[in-house]
Amino acid sequence: MCGIFAYLNYRVPRTRKEIFDTLVKGLQRLEYRGYDSAGIAVDGTRKEGNGSICLFKKRGKVKALDEVLCKNDSIYLDAELDVHFGIAHTRWATHGEPSAVNSHPHRSDKNNEFVVIHNGIITNYKELRKYLNSKGYEFESDTDTEVIPKLIKYLYDNREHDFVSFSTLVERVIQQLEGAFALVFKSIHFPGEAIATRRGSPLLIGVRSKYELSRDQIPIQYNGDFIGGVQKKNFRNRVDSSTSLHSVCDRKAVEFYFASDASAIIEHTNKVVYLEDDDIAAVAEGKLSLHRVSRSAGEESARVIQTLQMELQQIMKGNFKAFMQKEIFEQPESVFNTMRGRICFDTNTVVLGGLKDHLKEIRRCRRLIIIGCGTSFHAGVATRQILEELTELPVMVELASDFLDRITPVFRDDVCFFISQSGETADTLMALRYCKDRGALTVGVTNTVGSSICRETDCGVHINAGPEIGVASTKAYTSQFVALIMFALMMSEDRLSLQKRRLEIISGLRQLPALIKQVLALDEHIKSIAEELYQQRSLLVMGRGYNYATCLEGALKIKEITYMHSEGILAGELKHGPLALIDKDMPVIMVVMRDACYTKCHNALQQVTARQGRPIIICCRDDPEITRCAYKNVELPQTVDCLQGILSVIPLQLLSFHLAVLRGYDVDCPRNLAKSVTVE
Ligand code: M6R
Repeated sequence: MCGIFAYLNYRVPRTRKEIFDTLVKGLQRLEYRGYDSAGIAVDGTRKEGNGSICLFKKRGKVKALDEVLCKNDSIYLDAELDVHFGIAHTRWATHGEPSAVNSHPHRSDKNNEFVVIHNGIITNYKELRKYLNSKGYEFESDTDTEVIPKLIKYLYDNREHDFVSFSTLVERVIQQLEGAFALVFKSIHFPGEAIATRRGSPLLIGVRSKYELSRDQIPIQYNGDFIGGVQKKNFRNRVDSSTSLHSVCDRKAVEFYFASDASAIIEHTNKVVYLEDDDIAAVAEGKLSLHRVSRSAGEESARVIQTLQMELQQIMKGNFKAFMQKEIFEQPESVFNTMRGRICFDTNTVVLGGLKDHLKEIRRCRRLIIIGCGTSFHAGVATRQILEELTELPVMVELASDFLDRITPVFRDDVCFFISQSGETADTLMALRYCKDRGALTVGVTNTVGSSICRETDCGVHINAGPEIGVASTKAYTSQFVALIMFALMMSEDRLSLQKRRLEIISGLRQLPALIKQVLALDEHIKSIAEELYQQRSLLVMGRGYNYATCLEGALKIKEITYMHSEGILAGELKHGPLALIDKDMPVIMVVMRDACYTKCHNALQQVTARQGRPIIICCRDDPEITRCAYKNVELPQTVDCLQGILSVIPLQLLSFHLAVLRGYDVDCPRNLAKSVTVE
């Protein structure tokens, strides 16, 4: 999905090269979201009166854009700018093919008077375009976004008074827009000013006000207090007189970072403000002010500065080939972190702080509805059976888009769970608003603190899996799985008849990180299986009961990053169609664990081998009856039936990773996909 990054330095001298580097680095941190082109807008050289804005846009990777910037000799890279605002964007094509002209920033006119970066979709762009065309504004791209800079220029050209503020113009623009957006504006008419706003797409602003020293800077003290730093090379020029010292002291040096997600900001500052829908954030003269469009004039929005807990190291690849691989191997810790401080293994109690005040209401509800997309939906499928067993409530698991398409009846006494790694998935967010409108209690299960789903639900659980960068979701799945199991355990605390079962599960959860490590140790074996399979066109994954979700999730991982056709099949459906696919050439993976479905899975296995199928079997250790039917097998440690899916999905995560590497694909950024799907 598109990515926004922008950087404003106020009284913090930066060379143009440093500004480019900051913008490019910001875009690189957003690459994981998926994109097909990138662009940057910075100040050009000053002419008389207003400055100029230079645009650099390129189809393809951020690296290619960076090369364009480095080779460009029309712009003086060593020039030091005391105040500057630069904007940058990675585009994921929706309206119009991936190309330089369709990529952002988009501009108002050939002089680049206003430039804009945009995430989201403007649904009424055709009407706006027609109107602006009729007023003589010419369009150069096929995008929905381009109406925005044209519209702001139109409003500027037709202003009633000579002076109109930048934020007033933006406010008037967004009153005309329908759809979803996060926007950042820059203009030659308002040099050094930045305006950011959002509706439906995430946007946050990082603030670094303390002048922190970089390696090549010398600290400046005044009256014994640390007041800032200057570049070593500039030291003489800047601080060799008392006047300079005073001027450094007077400076309110501040830097602002605007981004569509925190991973692009965290290396600069952990102090951030999350914008809410219809907030307009304006930076002028180094001061950030916020107001909300619908509020009365002049009223400021109260938004707190939050401290991000994320560490830069958490979003670095380390020694792994890809983020996805790193994230698969992080699962012993991520799963542990999901349970940390919530399960007390001494007293066998589970407390989810975000839900405990709502427990009574949840226990009284008519049914639980679990809603998500993709992998997050699979986490619901994986835990439905144990939720039904331990809550003794009917549980529906819904794909957000289908749930909305059906206009599903929802009532005040329903409790609706919204599962989302990013907390920003458009379909899930819309389903949340739909359920809220109908009076249901809404519960968020997300991995992203401060995300829209987090903020808009009545209560929730943060899965604490740490940042997930790879587009293919791995550790978020296992942590969502564990979070839902913990919810089921909390719900059943008072039920005497369920105590034995609860204790068995709690003890299973305690062992889980160690068992995951044992599964990860099978990596080389799984790689050897991938070496046999990577040239195949298709791969079926079959199982049932607790492991049906494993098959759906495994097949999704395979198709998503290897581009092989892959299908997760419920073994109970075999005779109703899929059996026709089976022959000696069709690769089939079967998940046969020792649980209530064991005999039925064994039968399915025989159906497959009777048709010369050569199954690769994921099963429990020491099960000769199963392994002797296998062409290859992957033997896993056994755990409690309802937790087994956490272990059995890992070989499929690893397999998909190795298949993608062998097929030569970019594991972290699969084609056509985005990490966070913020459009319908
Ligand atoms: O951020 P979310 O969990 O709401 O995302 C939902 C899906 O888009 C996501 O799980 C997707 O299916 C994954 N890329 C699959 O690996």
